[in-house]
Amino acid sequence: MLKIAVLVSGGGTNLQAIIDAIADKTIADARICLVISNNRGVYALERARRAGIEERVISPSDYPSRAHFHKALLGAVQESGADLVVLAGFLCTIPEEMVKAYENRILNIHPSLIPSFCGKGYYGLKVHEAALERGVRISGATVHFVDCGTDTGPILLQKAVEVLPDDTPKTLQLRIMQEAEWKILPQAIDLIARGRVVVEGRKVKIL
Ligand code: GAR
Repeated sequence: MLKIAVLVSGGGTNLQAIIDAIADKTIADARICLVISNNRGVYALERARRAGIEERVISPSDYPSRAHFHKALLGAVQESGADLVVLAGFLCTIPEEMVKAYENRILNIHPSLIPSFCGKGYYGLKVHEAALERGVRISGATVHFVDCGTDTGPILLQKAVEVLPDDTPKTLQLRIMQEAEWKILPQAIDLIARGRVVVEGRKVKIL
């Protein structure tokens, strides 16, 4: 059984999509062994509690330096025995030690079609503001493995979503979540749980 640690920072709708997909067996043979939030009091933690999943807050403000925070984060993931780490709206940078310890075993969901609207400074609503500002007709979401860069790792799944003329950043964000993120993130985890994913350099093969 695939053991998953899910890292969150906010509302946790992607976490919920994973919880629901495990419950209804859309994701085969997996369980969430730990949810970690860098923020206290976020709704994602409540979602974990309701589902009976162990949850922890590991916040940079509780540590004397970034290095101590990173050590605590990696330690918690290792202790949990996770095989796969899923960044589900986790807005802190992943330390290099963790990328190395979990090479091709950390997944991130990003709310655009990478390589558009990604990299430093592009997170949450800012991504959708930039897409609307540029006037794109199509946006979407990407699930990729995490490497040492920001949103630069091998791409596993992408799904396109239409941008409508009256969209605001919030309406576009919600449509991309509903039509893309909440589908491709569970689908990606299921593919990994079934052993169907092989990473070859910057490319990903689905068996
Ligand atoms: C999601 O839209 C996710 O794609 C995005 O944050 C949101 C979290 O929502 N992540 C990023 O922007 C990462 N660069 P959630 O807490 O409801 O899952």
